Amino acid sequence: MSGTSGKTGRTVQIAPSVLAADFSRLGEQVATVAAAGADLIHIDVMDGHFVPNITMGPLVVAAIKRATTVPLDVHLMITNPDAYLDAFAQAGAGTISVHVEATVHLHRTLSRIRQLGLRAGVAINPATPLSAIGEVFDLLDQVLVMSVNPGFGGQSFIPRSVERIADLRAQLGDRAVDIEVDGGVDLSNAATLFRAGASILVAGASVFGAPDPAAATVGLRRAALS
Ligand code: DX5
Ligand code: ZN
Repeated sequence: MSGTSGKTGRTVQIAPSVLAADFSRLGEQVATVAAAGADLIHIDVMDGHFVPNITMGPLVVAAIKRATTVPLDVHLMITNPDAYLDAFAQAGAGTISVHVEATVHLHRTLSRIRQLGLRAGVAINPATPLSAIGEVFDLLDQVLVMSVNPGFGGQSFIPRSVERIADLRAQLGDRAVDIEVDGGVDLSNAATLFRAGASILVAGASVFGAPDPAAATVGLRRAALS
């Protein structure tokens, strides 16, 4: 299925978040959304410090890597991400996003991610002004705009995120930087987010919480482009 809008020629990528998957059959769940055309597999790494939850680390990323050829989009919600970049690269990450709020030397960290041969992303919380990342636009392959407060799946989408995405798209100009939106993305807001400038839609509950995750993956893409 094409991920391109007939109206604008822009492309949308669907990134199911395994945080909402059934961990007892993770490989199978990843294979299901991959077969349905998922463009990326989004992996939420939480450390119990930066966010109040603990999830998975490089071992799980490596296991998912063995289960699919779809690129892995690793979202680090951890303090001191620099200490773990090599481990996640080794595990098979395709993209690593670090939080601006958790990264002291953002310029150095993003440069290091690229040096490892990966796509570099910065994630930004709902309460952080966009100006916090303005100096590093040229080191970025993507900006991950949080549309919930990070830490848990299944939360409600924060409506103000739409304006933030549109503002960011304008600020990025014609740079080839993707805007990824993460948190509460579903059929009801996919088209609005795509039109505002998001090119990667992360979806946990609305994909793996659906009765048919494959159909939900296809449906989300269709909704975004509608
Ligand atoms: C939240 C995570 C998200 C989460 C999204 O901290 O960054 O990636 O999995 O889940 P949903 O789509 O259920 O809001
Ligand atoms: Zn995430």
